[in-house]
Amino acid sequence: MCGIVGMVTAGRDMAADLVGGIRRLEYRGYDSSGVALLNGKGIIVAKDIGGPSDLVGKQTFDGLHGTTGIAHTRWATHGGVTRKNAHPHLSCDGQVAVVHNGVLSNYRELRAALEARGHTFRSETDTEVFAHLVEEKLKGGLAPREAIRASALEVEGTYAFAVVIHTHPDRLWAMRKESPLVVGFGADRTVIASDPLALADACPDVLYLDDGELVEVASGSAEVFKIATGARVDRSRRRLEGDFAVPERGAYPHFMLKEMAEATLAVRAALGSDPDAVTRGAEKLLAAKRVFFTGMGTAYHMAIFGHQLVAQWAKRFCPVVTADELPGAVTFEPGDLVLGVSQSGETYDTLRAIRAAKAAGGVALGIVNVAGSSMARECDQTLLQGAGPEIAVLATKSALSQAVVAARLALEAGRLSGGLTAARHAELAAELASLPALLDEWRPQIERDCREAAARFLGLEKWFFLGRGVFASVAQEGALKFKEVTYRHAEGMAAGFLKHGTISLIDGEMGTAIFVPPASTGELRAMTLYALEEVRSRGGPLLAVGALSESERRHVDAVIGMPGKGELSDAFLQIVAGQYLAYYTAKALGRDIDRPRALAKSVTVP
Ligand code: G6P
Repeated sequence: MCGIVGMVTAGRDMAADLVGGIRRLEYRGYDSSGVALLNGKGIIVAKDIGGPSDLVGKQTFDGLHGTTGIAHTRWATHGGVTRKNAHPHLSCDGQVAVVHNGVLSNYRELRAALEARGHTFRSETDTEVFAHLVEEKLKGGLAPREAIRASALEVEGTYAFAVVIHTHPDRLWAMRKESPLVVGFGADRTVIASDPLALADACPDVLYLDDGELVEVASGSAEVFKIATGARVDRSRRRLEGDFAVPERGAYPHFMLKEMAEATLAVRAALGSDPDAVTRGAEKLLAAKRVFFTGMGTAYHMAIFGHQLVAQWAKRFCPVVTADELPGAVTFEPGDLVLGVSQSGETYDTLRAIRAAKAAGGVALGIVNVAGSSMARECDQTLLQGAGPEIAVLATKSALSQAVVAARLALEAGRLSGGLTAARHAELAAELASLPALLDEWRPQIERDCREAAARFLGLEKWFFLGRGVFASVAQEGALKFKEVTYRHAEGMAAGFLKHGTISLIDGEMGTAIFVPPASTGELRAMTLYALEEVRSRGGPLLAVGALSESERRHVDAVIGMPGKGELSDAFLQIVAGQYLAYYTAKALGRDIDRPRALAKSVTVP
């Protein structure tokens, strides 16, 4: 959700590197982008609508020079997608430039007051007030750091800010409240960024800012202060953990396709990640008084997936609530545990739910992909996915790896609780371990079936995606992928729910994708097939995802085949099928696959 990068060098021109930094964060927002550069002659701002890579080579970002600068790629919250609303924003006198992630809740009052004092605004954003506030404090005689700190005390809401001031071309300032910021130290630069991915390989050492902190950055140095008091904070640098090498698309037309092809690698990494952390997580889960699973988007669906397995294997029912609703729905108590699932580890809603549980004396467990993210640092126990960077906005390999980690946690909880016999535990562990080989064997066929199904059903504008048990979460996830990238409506739901109202929509124009469990699931499969018959008898086009017999195949219009070897393995492969179906439908419709309209990879605002 918006990307910020700032850079200070000892007199070296870094404009191209700065643009390179926000290009790496483009997946976080790409409505518009811009840079503010200091080169000793004032602040130069270049900005426009479009993501950073759209603007390179279109004059906006060409021929720029500067030794210090800040940059931004935007996902609009306040004010339309226009050039004037693109960041950076300047003060009236052009001496202060700011970029911002987050939302300022009191910006209307602040703007009215600033206008009444004679300030002229150029944009409709909440952000711009900050530039004017800093300008006022500087004119009032405060030194830059104090002017910025005093301005921060006046704004309410969430933010990561980066600020440069014309009179101080050798430094920049940044601060955070509920929005991530990291400082990176490289051989020839000091960088601030909203995501370590922007640091690429250039900064092996980092320093993470905590909420309520401000950093003053000069070449080779960064001093941290409390916003509330101005007191200096001792914060040592650490090695940057995790894989932040900048991924290349290679020969793939889209990152999404490349990342789907990396499914086996991601699953293997998730199978191999720290077993002690899984055991400690399972112990905490079993010891907790109440357990809630949570997440947003795809991560929420993988939380549902995990809760099904914990219920089946550890015989423990853990309600799943979306993270935006969880703090309002539950009054947390000591002894509660929240399991948060998040690829980025920076999703505002998920962090808020975790913090609410912790503030009440509860325990937070996280399934997180990005090491060093806010969630990875704040959870009492973090289970790292190890899926590597994911660039496409749609979560694909990371979703699979979340499902694997959740399954490992459920399996361990099943073992520790005695919910699984030793024999059943061994069987399930073997099924889980077989996933990489099964993925390698089946992915090409799934991809081919999905490509054909996408072409066959391209005329359908609306869909139901149905499944039962763990396959209900698979269906919901498939529907989300489909909506995100095709812009066509898909409603994911438990198959048993169809007959309670929504079935009235079934006709020749309403597609149904049904996620069929393998024969070994007995009643679960039989019950799923009832829904299939109900759709068929009303003339709805049917796509089955599952291991179907020859005679069953005659009851549907198309099939995405599955091995049918086990409930768990078919469920995993059906997640893959949902991803390829969305991809090939979007491709046929000519959608912007890696950057679907209005979406952002990581939503760090309320
Ligand atoms: C956004 C993205 C989704 C993602 C969700 C949760 O809505 O568009 O693709 O699943 O955030 O992200 P997280 O990083 O917490 O997994």
